[in-house]
Amino acid sequence: MPDIAFVKPALPKSCALILPMTEGDPPAGLAQEADAASGGLISRALDAAGFKGKKGQSTTLWAVGSWTKVVAIGLGKAGEVTPEGAEAAGGALAAALAQDREATVAADTLDPNLAAHMGFGALLRAWRFDRYRTTEKEEDKPKLERIAVATSSATPAKSAFAPLRAIADGVFLTRELVSEPPNVLDPVEFAERCKGLERLGVEVEVLGPKEMKRLGFGALLGVAQGSAKEPRMVVMQWKGAPKGKKTKPLALIGKGVTFDTGGISIKPAGGMEDMKWDMAGAGAVVGAIAAIAGRKAKADVVGLVGLVENMPSGTAQRPGDVVKTYSGQTVEVINTDAEGRLVLGDVMWYAQERFDPRGMVDLATLTGAIIIALGHEHAGLFSNDDALAQKIMAAGAAVGEKCWRMPLGDAYDKQIKSDIADMKNVGGRPGGSITAAQFLQRFTNGKPWAHLDIAGTAWSSKDAATMPKGATAFGVRLLDRLVAAEEEG
Ligand code: BES
Ligand code: MN
Ligand code: ZN
Repeated sequence: MPDIAFVKPALPKSCALILPMTEGDPPAGLAQEADAASGGLISRALDAAGFKGKKGQSTTLWAVGSWTKVVAIGLGKAGEVTPEGAEAAGGALAAALAQDREATVAADTLDPNLAAHMGFGALLRAWRFDRYRTTEKEEDKPKLERIAVATSSATPAKSAFAPLRAIADGVFLTRELVSEPPNVLDPVEFAERCKGLERLGVEVEVLGPKEMKRLGFGALLGVAQGSAKEPRMVVMQWKGAPKGKKTKPLALIGKGVTFDTGGISIKPAGGMEDMKWDMAGAGAVVGAIAAIAGRKAKADVVGLVGLVENMPSGTAQRPGDVVKTYSGQTVEVINTDAEGRLVLGDVMWYAQERFDPRGMVDLATLTGAIIIALGHEHAGLFSNDDALAQKIMAAGAAVGEKCWRMPLGDAYDKQIKSDIADMKNVGGRPGGSITAAQFLQRFTNGKPWAHLDIAGTAWSSKDAATMPKGATAFGVRLLDRLVAAEEEG
């Protein structure tokens, strides 16, 4: 990961020079100095290349004067640059820098908050998961060590960047968890990594099968019983609300299926490797707690993750089994591949009973049906509380993690009636993501709750501005913003 530094405006002697430029405007500030130093070559070359400063546009000029390269990045119209736009520009510049060690960004004409977001975007894009690459050629490895953001107000830029740096660390933790292969990241290892949050002042408790059996987590344990790996539940408490302002905590709950074969209702082989990221909901919860604790949020938040592996074996649960959940309600397991809701039901009931939260938000790669409904652009949002749903929509929109509200209702709930138990775990093909949410709603005990189905947004098959392809860490920034909005009051 490159260091992001904020420095006084000055042109670098060598290295790469980045010129963020607004649409239709001539070079200003440092960019103008650089252009003058090049005898006007930079502006002529950019003209010749058709660079206009449009949002998302970028042009690289090689070996200009003593600079290895000059990269012009378009910001769009002056006065219309948003933090998100600055992040995208930061991402574009990081992508253009893979082979450079150092770069200076001429951000002296931007306000300090936008300069901070540009550094944040660059950092988010420069991340890479390379733990398992051993034979990559030296010349192909990314070299970027430092990005110096030149700004006329380095001090405010630095303070705007500090919380963003903590959020980036949360995003990276999630991306790493989601990227890890399933032989490495099993429930035990996942719980072990949660322990790492203690370093940030988070209280971490890990429950194993004995404790969960004693509590009566029949649904979660039913999913786990086919696997040789022991299940875990992890409870992570961040107590940041100032004394005298203590509230009920916000509870964040994550589906953590470290590998989902489908169990006895086994999935087809094609693409099954994707099911290593069936723990992305839990991954997002852990990353969000890391972000919230890392920036010392003045709020009380608790994260709970249910960690299991869903495998077929001689000890696996069968279609037709009836399990007793922690809530006391019984479930007929029609399809062992609808396992996420079984795990979440027990963890949600535990969360509401133990913490009486002011709100519960669960995140889960819950259904293929949400991908059919919303594709990869929006997460599905389901809620029994309009105010909470509104806050989540707004938080998501603010950070580029878009949600789309989906309906709930009694008619859908009827689809999960069972002939022999209180409910069954599937409701047929129509409205598959909705009946899954109806199932979860039965474990809220009427408390304010929202469910984000992130099956379509947790993983990306192509690079985006601030996200290399792969694990997106969808939810980390949204949850952090949700908490930050509450802090701001
Ligand atoms: N983990 C899957 C959902 C999923 C599918 C996530 C594709 C990411 C990409 C979940 O456990 C599952 O298997 N759901 C089933 C439910 C069905 C059996 C009612 C599904 O969506 O097919
Ligand atoms: Mn499944
Ligand atoms: Zn699953």
